[in-house]
Amino acid sequence: MPGYRCPPAKRDLVYSRLVRRLRAHDLASFDAYLDRVEQGDGQEWQAFTNALTTNLTAFFRETHHFPLLAAHLLRSGAPRSQTVWCTASSTGEEAYSIAMTAVEAFGSFTPPVRILATDVDTGVLETAREGVYPADRVEQLDPARLRRFFLRGSGARAGQVRVREDLRSLVSFRRVNLLEQSWPVRGPLTRSSAAT
Ligand SMILES: C[S@@+](CC[C@H](N)C(=O)[O-])C[C@H]1O[C@@H](n2cnc3c(N)ncnc32)[C@H](O)[C@@H]1O
Repeated sequence: MPGYRCPPAKRDLVYSRLVRRLRAHDLASFDAYLDRVEQGDGQEWQAFTNALTTNLTAFFRETHHFPLLAAHLLRSGAPRSQTVWCTASSTGEEAYSIAMTAVEAFGSFTPPVRILATDVDTGVLETAREGVYPADRVEQLDPARLRRFFLRGSGARAGQVRVREDLRSLVSFRRVNLLEQSWPVRGPLTRSSAAT
């Protein structure tokens, strides 16, 4: 790939993630694929980005952060409304964990808190907006939390859970690339999460 630097240790990973895009376009080489991406095919540029991101996440991942967040929200919160920016939200688990924390902290499904959740990957944002997850993603949650914030699927949705609408309505998802010079986001904000 002339002009592109890929550390040897990452080659296999990059190969396995991008080769599917080559197949999707019936292209025989990475050079041909990169030409296509660089010729201004915006849709393919996004697919290229989506293919390369690592989206590992979980509900209440890094559990010790959430009591701290609850205390912070209560200290600096009501009656003023606050916005928490979840800056690399992946498929939404972190954003919904922040929303659950806010509901629990204020004891209400209408806390003075909104969550703006952003990611560069449009595929994960679609999943996040839908708020439907395989049931094993919530297995480790406290049963009371599970009942309060999720609906269990049945029929064609058996084996899945859905985030309840009143929780979902606290979160909005939007594409933001943190590497861009400016972010289309208005403050003041409480920032959460990292693109790790
Ligand atoms: C490992 S996941 C972390 C998800 C969540 N913050 C958590 O801790 O559970 C990293 C996320 O960062 C996103 N990401 C990577 N680079 C980014 C960038 N430049 N701008 C915005 N999001 C980015 C990826 O798409 C991915 O969904």
